[in-house]
Amino acid sequence: RSLLENVRAKVQRGLLPQWAFTDPDVFQAELERIFAKTWNFLGHESEVARPGDYVTRWIARDPVLLVRDAEGKVQAYLNSCTHRGTKLCTADFGNKKAFTCPYHGWTFNLAGELTGIVAGNKVYGKEMDRSQWSLRKIPRVESYQGMIFGSLNEHVEPLETFLGDMKWYFDLMLGRSDHGMEVRGIPQRWIIHTNWKISADNFGGDPYHTAMTHRSTVELGISPKDPMYASYGYQIVLDNGHGINIVTRRKDMNVPPFQGLPQAMWPMFERNLDPVQLDVFRNTMITVGNCFPNLSFVSPMHGTGGPDEPLTSFVNFRVWRPLTPTSIEVTSWLMVDKDAPEAFKEASYLSYVGSFGPAGTLEQDDAEIWTRVAEASQGWMTQDKDVHYNNVLNYLMGLDRVEPDPSWPGPGVAYPTCYLDAISRAFYERWIECLLDDAI
Ligand code: FES
Repeated sequence: RSLLENVRAKVQRGLLPQWAFTDPDVFQAELERIFAKTWNFLGHESEVARPGDYVTRWIARDPVLLVRDAEGKVQAYLNSCTHRGTKLCTADFGNKKAFTCPYHGWTFNLAGELTGIVAGNKVYGKEMDRSQWSLRKIPRVESYQGMIFGSLNEHVEPLETFLGDMKWYFDLMLGRSDHGMEVRGIPQRWIIHTNWKISADNFGGDPYHTAMTHRSTVELGISPKDPMYASYGYQIVLDNGHGINIVTRRKDMNVPPFQGLPQAMWPMFERNLDPVQLDVFRNTMITVGNCFPNLSFVSPMHGTGGPDEPLTSFVNFRVWRPLTPTSIEVTSWLMVDKDAPEAFKEASYLSYVGSFGPAGTLEQDDAEIWTRVAEASQGWMTQDKDVHYNNVLNYLMGLDRVEPDPSWPGPGVAYPTCYLDAISRAFYERWIECLLDDAI
């Protein structure tokens, strides 16, 4: 505990011990005090639109079966049979009336009730009460703007309280159209040998990396040559460790409003957003951020609008699921406005696949770098708890130098640049508070 209190003192000064990425005890504490206690993103309502639709997901190491029941309600069960614990459903998605366990054949309906036991009366008799052996429910399931979250903590605060001001920004990304968003394609999953905080921090608070890590896009003429280009906008620190960067449309850049979404959709945005949100969205080029602990998002626009390069934009959410201190499973959802024209949706999907899909250019750049951070954080020197070596990493950008901009019209503490470590500092402050708070 004194070690963690020491970490807190460092984090408050914009410093992070490198061993925080790879220390096994820290990782175990994160599973217990963060992932088992807070809200975790499970999926989008469009993925389980009809009764019987299901997807299989995880909350860290707990397998989750997310299903729309016969009454049309979304249910989340531990995806583990109550007989001997077998993982009940192994498919990523599908539609079923019931789930039959492959081990001994127990069958559960969409309400999670045990409805079938092979040779039941003969082997268990009538005295076994089947109602005691239903699937175990994930204690809390709530949704906002179609985003379904689950928590293993029965006493967790309401989802909307947890999201706080992030709701305002979710509205911009997810609630601007009459029928919301839909997941296009099947969410992709892949493994990266890194720590979950490295990727969450990268999306949450690190637009500074773009000019170097993604330099190939500059060399290809896809991104501007100006190394400050990703800084033009606002970094907005939100409560509970959340944060968002909004790279804004500048007058000299000749970029269309509303992230290039078709003009026919603009009246819809006026209907669904309040005037302040509408104005912010009109001038947004890119949003990128992180919802604590490990739900990141990026919403870029691509293309020139020319015949060979249609304008596209999309919203990409991804969960960095911790597997070990140095490995994560990424699940990545591509979302587009349900009301967008089909051609725009398809072009946006292809744009996503080529950029942030698992083989996308930007994704490859990031994964390579994050792997290197983890690789370089496992040795004798970097595991030292600051006894012999100075192992702190630098999160000092803008500290005591950049003041919040009170003219920002949206919620949160907004700074007038995206090249700043303010969100990263807030992320790690929340992280260390969780690890230290026995009550959480
Ligand atoms: Fe599922 Fe036996 S473990 S039926």
